[in-house]
Amino acid sequence: MTRSLDGLVYEPVPGFEDHLENELAGGWTSYGPFYFVPNDPPEPRVPPAEPRVFWRRNIWQKPFILEFDSISRAASALREIQRNWAPSLFTRFRRGTLIAEKLPPLSEKPRRFPWLPPDTPMGAWTLLDDRTILASAECVSPFPGGIIRFEEDKQGPPSRAYLKLWEALTLARRRPAPGDLCLDAGASPGGWTWALAKLGARVTAVDRSPLSAPVAAMDGVRFIKHDAFTLKPEEIGGIDWLFCDAACFPSRLFDWVEKWLASGLCENYVCTIKMRGGPDTADFDTPRRFAAIPGSRVVHLCHNKHELTYIRTAASAAEGHNRVVR
Ligand SMILES: C[S@@+](CC[C@H](N)C(=O)[O-])C[C@H]1O[C@@H](n2cnc3c(N)ncnc32)[C@H](O)[C@@H]1O
Repeated sequence: MTRSLDGLVYEPVPGFEDHLENELAGGWTSYGPFYFVPNDPPEPRVPPAEPRVFWRRNIWQKPFILEFDSISRAASALREIQRNWAPSLFTRFRRGTLIAEKLPPLSEKPRRFPWLPPDTPMGAWTLLDDRTILASAECVSPFPGGIIRFEEDKQGPPSRAYLKLWEALTLARRRPAPGDLCLDAGASPGGWTWALAKLGARVTAVDRSPLSAPVAAMDGVRFIKHDAFTLKPEEIGGIDWLFCDAACFPSRLFDWVEKWLASGLCENYVCTIKMRGGPDTADFDTPRRFAAIPGSRVVHLCHNKHELTYIRTAASAAEGHNRVVR
């Protein structure tokens, strides 16, 4: 027997449940480790103008409860809906493993960047007890359970930060083309610059600390030793992409990105919003201001730590709406 739930289920980022609770500001009920927020008023609803919840690994957009009496019936009920079902946090229940074994397998192999996730829907499910499934056929993340693993390069990049850049570009479904001009602010030691130069882009890397020597010597890379935020867009000139992974207050990054947007000199952005403080003191407002910029999204990447990622491309701006529901 299935029963639709009128609302959204938020899958928290492990370790940052308190941040999600702050964003949800009450109004949620627990389903195991998940947060269910009922629609208010009930469907049909008008989506809020601005997304406001970012500290989540995934959003289950069409949640339902499935009560089952046998493992094979549970698996066939899910299979009848669609092929792809990612299990989540059910390890307490052995029945979860048995149901998962009866579902079509999902590839667990690390992806080689660049890679585009298929358009087919990726569902999610968990067991609330040994007779009850909580599931959703539609989720915000195209990755199973909101997680993507890449084939890592253990030799080339000087840090593992390039993995979050790869994840952001995969979500954006866009990346710099060979010859594109990129500004990489807060570039040292050079993981992002390395990833961009490997795509054939021309990279201006800015930092107060130097790049690692092998990255600085890559084709198309030039380095400017400078405070990135005191560089005016007009001093740099037109660029195709702006990247920023500099450690700074979120509001400082916002002011700088606003200047770039107003200048019309860059259309594509991937920036890390570094957070400080706990759930009572962290800046929850600035990510909302970023998300309110037309064509923008703010996400917690599975490669992010205590930080969020701002993504805006010329294509998402042309679509004219912000892609994440809440
Ligand atoms: C997390 S690291 C960047 C890692 C880099 N993306 C990579 O892939 O290797 C943050 C960098 O921001 C730089 N940074 C902090 N404030 C800056 C500023 N105002 N201007 C330029 N760089 C800055 C720091 O020097 C540091 O190298």
